[in-house]
Amino acid sequence: MTKASLVVASNRGPVSISVGSDGEEETVRGGGGLVSGMQVALDSAGDAVWVCASMTDRERSVARRSAGRPLEFSAGDAGGGDFDVVMIPIDGVTFRQAYNGIANATLWFVLHMLFEPTRRPLFDAAWRRQWAAYQRYNQSFADAVDRLAESGATVMVQDYHLFLLPALLRERRPDLKIGFFTHTPWVSPDYFGLLPDDVAHDILSGMLGADVVGFHTWRWAEQFQQCCQAVFGKVPDDQLKVYGLTADLDEMNSRGQQADVRSAARELREEIGDRLVIGRVDRAELSKNVYRGLLAYRELLHRWPHWQGRVVHAVFDNPSREDIPEYREYTAAVERLGREIDEEFGTDDWTPLLLTIEQDYPSALAALTLTDVVFINSVRDGMNLVAFEAVLLSERDPVMVLSRETGAADVLGADAILVNPYDVGQTAEALNQALVTALGDREGSDDSAARRTARLREAATQLPPAKWFDEQLRQVRSAAEQTS
Ligand code: F6P
Repeated sequence: MTKASLVVASNRGPVSISVGSDGEEETVRGGGGLVSGMQVALDSAGDAVWVCASMTDRERSVARRSAGRPLEFSAGDAGGGDFDVVMIPIDGVTFRQAYNGIANATLWFVLHMLFEPTRRPLFDAAWRRQWAAYQRYNQSFADAVDRLAESGATVMVQDYHLFLLPALLRERRPDLKIGFFTHTPWVSPDYFGLLPDDVAHDILSGMLGADVVGFHTWRWAEQFQQCCQAVFGKVPDDQLKVYGLTADLDEMNSRGQQADVRSAARELREEIGDRLVIGRVDRAELSKNVYRGLLAYRELLHRWPHWQGRVVHAVFDNPSREDIPEYREYTAAVERLGREIDEEFGTDDWTPLLLTIEQDYPSALAALTLTDVVFINSVRDGMNLVAFEAVLLSERDPVMVLSRETGAADVLGADAILVNPYDVGQTAEALNQALVTALGDREGSDDSAARRTARLREAATQLPPAKWFDEQLRQVRSAAEQTS
């Protein structure tokens, strides 16, 4: 195959491979904020190849069969993207140790401060084997990118699965222009220092192999800088940049109008009636803090009982990373708490909580179209793209209750009620205040709600994916030219 002038590398690619009802393999569009963001961006980038991992046994066998050539699928399956996709056939053990053990159960936990440190983290011999798998996994990406990138190509590396890749590529291919973007938050040197010293060192120097290291907000970039100071005794010069990804207005408008979303919205409206809707859509994921969110909703119904019967909390939780025990246990706890709320408050004609823990994309989007109060209380979140999507999809004038620990708080904070995600009492108060505002907006006669919505919508689209990507490409290329 011909080599590419632009290579994107990420763990999860833009397509996944499954078996259809006819027993045939089918290639379908993958999920997640990273995927939808990059996909729109690449549509306008021209000659590009997207390198990703094979994540299941089926994908591994397809990847082995394709022997390094691009996958064959119709453009429609990949959301219309005009670019090649190469899946790397990483063996199952290496993949699981790197993805589950290191990326998601260690690095994700560090970056989102999810450990309960009396028992975890724990760096023993078994963990070291997983770390060796993470190194091999990064090496496989380096091999593939090396093979696919033409001389002087630009390589855009995504996220915490590939922290080591920029330095590996730099060493092997000094001709490449390399960008690295981390979609997660960053943490203080104290928390980052939970990692073994050599690992902390290798992660930072791995990322700094890139010409530009990008973050969603300055808050994360500054914490990264402090970690560099702590580990190397100095900070990187001009390598760190901020590109706060937001949503794409046209994409959201067209999604909101799709027939399956409209019909799901009609069904939901029938179920909810004209009650106010507190809506949230997340991956079923510890950092999203759904458990404390439900505790706050329960406290709201206790402290302000007049909302009983007048509000419905619609929660769509898309199952995620179910191979990791902490995720399964957390989701089970969310389900239990959901049942308790239902038993405590539910009546014959009012269901206080609609909790859906399954992948139902049309209904999740439909819920956002009906949402009066957008509820996001992540313990920590690189950005939180749902915040922007909700603002664009809601057909009310949405009021936002938003965790101050999200990147999105930097973008929408001026028109949101910000909360400390650990403070359930404060979050319940914020929900009450939001409902009061939403009710006032419904009954109000001035245009203050419409003005708030206009400001939120403008902020939610300030750096849509294509622009976000173009901006990075430009700066990576110019930074690389200056150093060459
Ligand atoms: O937040 C980082 C991120 O890469 C998101 O962009 C994406 O939605 C999510 O993690 C993907 O997680 P996974 O691929 O493990 O489902």
